[in-house]
Amino acid sequence: MSLLDNVKVFFDQAAKKMAIDDHVRQMLEEPDRIIEVKIPGTENGKPKVFRGYRVQHNNARGPYKGGLRYHPTVEMDEVVALAGLMTWKCSLLNVPYGGGKGGISCDPTKMTRQELEAISRAFIRQLMPNIGPTVDVPAPDVNTDGQIMAWMVDEATQIAGESMLPLLTGKPVSMGGSLGRTESTGYGVARVGVEALKKIGIEPKDATAAVQGFGKVGGWTAARLYKMGVKVVAVSDISGGYYCKDGINIEDLMKYTATSKGHLIEGFSAPGLTKISNDELLTLDVDLLCPCAMENQIDPGVAKRVRAKVISEGANGPVTADGDAVLTERGIVVIPDILANAGGVTVSYFEWVQNFQHISWTFDEVINKMDSMMVNCLNDVWEVSQKEKCSLRTAAFILSITRVIEAMKLTGKI
Ligand SMILES: NC(=O)c1ccc[n+]([C@@H]2O[C@H](COP(=O)([O-])OP(=O)(O)OC[C@H]3O[C@@H](n4cnc5c(N)ncnc54)[C@H](O)[C@@H]3O)[C@@H](O)[C@H]2O)c1
Repeated sequence: MSLLDNVKVFFDQAAKKMAIDDHVRQMLEEPDRIIEVKIPGTENGKPKVFRGYRVQHNNARGPYKGGLRYHPTVEMDEVVALAGLMTWKCSLLNVPYGGGKGGISCDPTKMTRQELEAISRAFIRQLMPNIGPTVDVPAPDVNTDGQIMAWMVDEATQIAGESMLPLLTGKPVSMGGSLGRTESTGYGVARVGVEALKKIGIEPKDATAAVQGFGKVGGWTAARLYKMGVKVVAVSDISGGYYCKDGINIEDLMKYTATSKGHLIEGFSAPGLTKISNDELLTLDVDLLCPCAMENQIDPGVAKRVRAKVISEGANGPVTADGDAVLTERGIVVIPDILANAGGVTVSYFEWVQNFQHISWTFDEVINKMDSMMVNCLNDVWEVSQKEKCSLRTAAFILSITRVIEAMKLTGKI
């Protein structure tokens, strides 16, 4: 099943409980606008025409918001699914945004820095008529970063003839970015994971965890768990995984990956460390599992063998819809992506607010505000799941869909 199919199933599970009319369901599920552009550029010196996408899913609660992904697998259906997830995520966290997503189908590993800059500037030029600081606010996603945001802000500023800092979030701190944005997604994944463990009677100092993916999300998830006193016994990335029953020193590992080839964990050494596969990591006997790599990692075959008590979804869509059914049946607590990894968009919102107000908050101010929003949200979702006797995922969708429906009713759209 594709990510879009999975998101449809998750949406439908909540919509069924809410008894939503068909026309309302259609208004909520289908994107407001789909933009597809062709971008002239070069790859390894050879001229090439790239495809770029921006999907504006729903803006009933505020400007469209969501990242721009550069990857060979970027295609319309995936972008539509991810844009929808952003609508539900922003509504769930009660940040005043709608949902959007975009990207370019390209392979950045085959492109020079100059080639990346050229397509990034060309892409934003094509999008400019349909985006803006109070219209649609993009951000980094897979394979895009602060540098790419900086090129895009600069291009937009030149076109508009005025500062366009609030047009994009995830900018470098020296160019209007927020302190804490880098850490925010992973920090949030860890924080709500630990809160859920507490709810089932496990204190962080007694807990063990495994983290799949050691990139922007997984690295900071592991780092915060380690800081909070959780024993992180396993980590992995595309190069494979490591296990240590006494816990891995994540500070040492972060130092290692800062300079390792491709920032991979491969080659890290420490006493008691053994190699494990990604499949073994997902089925380890730990309290908390954080899949922070990519979608569709936990299908029914893996779900049957998962031994973690709580899963905090760092990646978008790491559990398939049929895998989710198995986990729910087995009583495993799954904190859904639209809640677990929402720390990133929450701090993106803080960045936007700081840009409009021309102020900067401290790192602690940012993380404390984010923590309290995420923990409150987990408590709300937990309460709905108990009341409605459903999974946290269905409860999260019920809460966020309810808010979007309210806003759409107020504007007369439904
Ligand atoms: N970066 C954010 O702020 C953010 C916010 C919300 C959601 N997400 C989602 O989190 C996920 C990860 O994003 P990221 O920004 O950390 O990307 P990233 O590229 O920085 O890191 C991805 C990590 O996953 C690893 N990986 C890739 N394929 C793997 C595989 N088959 N098995 C094991 N590990 C594998 C990579 O080696 C890398 O360590 C994506 O689904 C993304 O959409 C990211």
